[in-house]
Amino acid sequence: MPLVAQGPLDMEGALTARDRVGIQDFVLLDETTEAAFLSNLRKRFSKDLIYTYIGTLLVSVNPYKQLDIYSHKLMDVYKGVNFFELPPHIYALADNAYHTMLTEFNNHFILISGESGAGKTEASKKILQYYAVSCPSTTLLNTVRDKILMSNPVLEAFGNAKTLKNDNSSRFGKYMDIQFDSQGGAVGGHVLNYLLEKSRVVHQNHGERNFHIFYQLVEGGEEELLRRLGLERGGQRYHYLTQGGGAAVSSIHDRNNWKTVKNALQIINIDKINTNHLFGTVASVLHLGNVGFGRDARGCAVLSGDDAELLWVSKLLGVDAQSLREGLTCRKIEANKEQVLSPFTVDHAIYARDALAKAIYGQTFTWLVNRINESMENKDLSRKNVIGLLDIYGFEVFYVNSFEQFCINYCNEKLQQLFIQLTLKAEQEEYEAEDIEWESVQFFNNKIICELLEEKHTGIISLLDEECLRPGDATDLTFLERLEDKMSNHPHFVTHKLADKVTRKTLERGDFRLLHYAGEVTYCVVGFLDKNNDLLYKNIKDLICQAKNAIVRESFSTMDSDTRRRPETVATQFKSSLLKLTEVLVKKEAWYIRCLKSNESKQPGHFDEALIRHQVKYLGLMEHLRVRRAGFAYRRIYEVFLKRYKPLCPATWPHWRGLPADGVEVLVQHLGYLPDEYRMGRTKIFIRHPRTLYATEDAYEKCKHELATRLQAKYKGYKAKGKFKRQKEAATKIETCWRGVQARKEREKRAWAVKVIKKFIKGYMTRGQARNTENSEYLAFVRQNYLNRLKGNLPETVLDKTTWQSPPAVLAETSELLRQLHSRLMVRRYVRGITPQRKAQLHLKAVTSSIFKGRKDSYPQSVAQPFVDTRIGEQDVDIRALQMIGHEHIQYGVPVIKYDRNGFKPRARQLVLTQTAAHLIDDAKVKQRVLYTSLKGISVSNLTDCIIVFHITCEDPKQKGDLVMQCDPLFEFLTKLSVIANKQNAISVVQGSIKIDIQAGKESAVDFSSGPEAEVCRAKNGHLLVVSTRARTR
Ligand SMILES: Nc1ncnc2c1ncn2[C@@H]1O[C@H](COP(=O)(O)OP(=O)(O)OP(=O)(O)O)[C@@H](O)[C@H]1O
Ligand SMILES: [Mg+2]
Repeated sequence: MPLVAQGPLDMEGALTARDRVGIQDFVLLDETTEAAFLSNLRKRFSKDLIYTYIGTLLVSVNPYKQLDIYSHKLMDVYKGVNFFELPPHIYALADNAYHTMLTEFNNHFILISGESGAGKTEASKKILQYYAVSCPSTTLLNTVRDKILMSNPVLEAFGNAKTLKNDNSSRFGKYMDIQFDSQGGAVGGHVLNYLLEKSRVVHQNHGERNFHIFYQLVEGGEEELLRRLGLERGGQRYHYLTQGGGAAVSSIHDRNNWKTVKNALQIINIDKINTNHLFGTVASVLHLGNVGFGRDARGCAVLSGDDAELLWVSKLLGVDAQSLREGLTCRKIEANKEQVLSPFTVDHAIYARDALAKAIYGQTFTWLVNRINESMENKDLSRKNVIGLLDIYGFEVFYVNSFEQFCINYCNEKLQQLFIQLTLKAEQEEYEAEDIEWESVQFFNNKIICELLEEKHTGIISLLDEECLRPGDATDLTFLERLEDKMSNHPHFVTHKLADKVTRKTLERGDFRLLHYAGEVTYCVVGFLDKNNDLLYKNIKDLICQAKNAIVRESFSTMDSDTRRRPETVATQFKSSLLKLTEVLVKKEAWYIRCLKSNESKQPGHFDEALIRHQVKYLGLMEHLRVRRAGFAYRRIYEVFLKRYKPLCPATWPHWRGLPADGVEVLVQHLGYLPDEYRMGRTKIFIRHPRTLYATEDAYEKCKHELATRLQAKYKGYKAKGKFKRQKEAATKIETCWRGVQARKEREKRAWAVKVIKKFIKGYMTRGQARNTENSEYLAFVRQNYLNRLKGNLPETVLDKTTWQSPPAVLAETSELLRQLHSRLMVRRYVRGITPQRKAQLHLKAVTSSIFKGRKDSYPQSVAQPFVDTRIGEQDVDIRALQMIGHEHIQYGVPVIKYDRNGFKPRARQLVLTQTAAHLIDDAKVKQRVLYTSLKGISVSNLTDCIIVFHITCEDPKQKGDLVMQCDPLFEFLTKLSVIANKQNAISVVQGSIKIDIQAGKESAVDFSSGPEAEVCRAKNGHLLVVSTRARTR
């Protein structure tokens, strides 16, 4: 799909129905007739659509009413948007100039032209406001921005006035540069001012006013200020303010404007002292105007009335009153090296007074512009791009036109000439030069008028200067005669004398008429010479140079410092400044706003077709349209075009090796330009429609980002690689160093190890010898090593005899000592850990041991089983049995099985020991009481059984015989018994059989044997047979 295949419909896609009224760009008109042009303009104007394009030129029609089309919101809408994407607007033009400046890094200017009252100043303000809002802002930039913005009301107050054409007519020319940094921030400004219409200070035509500031001061000035300045409120009392007769104008708000101006003066850094001087100067002009003159007896001028006004002037300017009076009434003449005072006539005095007033005001205005420039100055010297705004007084024709109108209209001729040069002429010449097929568009070139006015030696200005400088009685009329003499055949010049009969009727004798590009203007020559000379008498000038008021003193002192040379005339100065301006402008890229006045009566909504047709004609808009339609909106040298857009085509990116023109051809083919959309010239490509270029520019913007991303990625990769390489090298270096360090350490370690091992071996070999230098370390090592080993492997119990580490020979004795020490230590620790209960227990166990150790087979197993205090408590014994035991306490009790004497029947009984006897209890009865005294012996077998036999003294046959019992805790019971009854020695351990006395005289026996299973029974022989299992061997 071709990149630029965008139709007009797409272009207008975003427009509302209202925006579609008429045609937004005259280039798109079906026919290029004046009627069609005007009809479109009218259609749009009727819907308050005051802006229409001719290509990139903006036509603006003054609506004479406030329209709702200037807002921050709308400024945002137009920000960064291509020219033709939105309805025509002054913001679009401002924005495009700005963006072109930023992208192409070049300087621009916006030429705002149109006749007086067409809206130039308003347009320039809208542009400034646009930049103020849409440029990047910082605190610093905002200060500059405010100064640039606020310079406007100040300059307007001092330089604008109501004329018949315009209530706020610019009476000076203004060219303002706004400087931008590379980011687009407005960083500074500079104003060039052109020829202020000073004559207005002392004279205004009927219906006109003096400069606004005078009215603002007398209307808005605070009481205190007015008192200080000796002024009265209202302008009626001041001669300089009343000649036009129309001080109050509804559209002008002097009081409000006064406040604005005062505030603006602060913002542009004019301090209090200077502000006072400034108002003092303005007031002094008003007072000066009221200084009247009368005639004395000799016919010479003297001040009329009292001196009040003169005194105020002297006070406000800070000059001597008497000298001032002298200066206003006499002139100093040097005659024969003597100074003589020559008195003025009244007319002359008025002339001198007015000249002084004009000079004071004019110089003050220049001073003000300089202060504004100082405050807006950008101190940073780095490269800046600028956008210049040219807002100059428009072409004007009054009933009486004087020197000022001559200058103003001359200026407009020059600007028209510049416009023609840059658009119609240069454009067509370029097509020819570039060999682009072209059918010439005819246009009126006002060069002839410019030459008539400014040609050296032959132009009107030169002739005027000549008359001014000529010795003798040169007057305005002699000047006119000179003109008639020299210009008699010029088609654009006519006077009463030169004119034909019909024309003559329209001309006075003192008039000359010029046929300007914008129409005829009849000038009255009266005052031309004086105004051109603009002379101030030397004595009064010297006086002002001494003034205490700093503003006038400074500005008069710097005025024509070279007093010997005659100052340049006003017209010549003006001519040179315009020439300089033209030189400045042609170096910049131009944007045009052509302002049209909708009607002469400043009426909103009134479209005066004749008036507008006239303007369309003289502004050359039709011709411009024709050239635009036939021509190309954009052109660029091949190299430049290729350099910018080459990234858009693979064949041209990154380098095109062939001719630039070929490269451009390849590029535009790739972009899909249609054949009619462009032409290839000799050195340039010409693009017909802006939209084609915008589409290319959009593609370029997109591509630029992609390229930037790619470059960024590449660069990042490159950086990362570099970093990685450096890191790797560093790592290798560190590694090498580290390895070296390690290797050196290792080598040292090994050398040390060899030494140690050698020493060790030597020590080992001589270990048997007495301690000497060779084996001392080894022995120490062996000792330490043994002790360390010993420390980790000490026996943990007293009984452990095996764990002790076997010592090396050198430590045999030490080891033994240590072993004993350790053993003692363990014994001590063990003994200390024994409780009293355990001690008692051990006592008992010792007793048991002394009785049974090595005698009874079950003894070893019993050693580990602790003895209990008793197995039967008093609570376990029947109360009746207890009563039978009596008062004796039970010391020990145990359940037993008692075998009957006859038949050896087993019976479960309780056996309790008291202090004196053993009691055998069967439930509630004590079956048998064996006094210890009658217990003559106790027998047990040597086997593992638990049979105990009590041998009881039995003298009486009624008495029961020996007692045979089985008691499981045998050792516990017998030990307790032996302790309680002190019977250790009565216990005997018997092998095989125990003889028992069943009754006195009747015997039996208990036979013991071992078997696989334990058993107690009556044997066939009538004995009790006790079979016990064999003891476990440990
Ligand atoms: N865009 C606009 N919107 C509303 N009113 C406007 C506009 N432009 C101009 N005017 C009105 O027209 C008047 C004259 O405009 P402006 O002062 O800009 O004219 P000018 O071309 O600068 O004239 P001169 O050459 O006399 O200085 C303004 O005071 C204002 O009332
Ligand atoms: Mg203006």
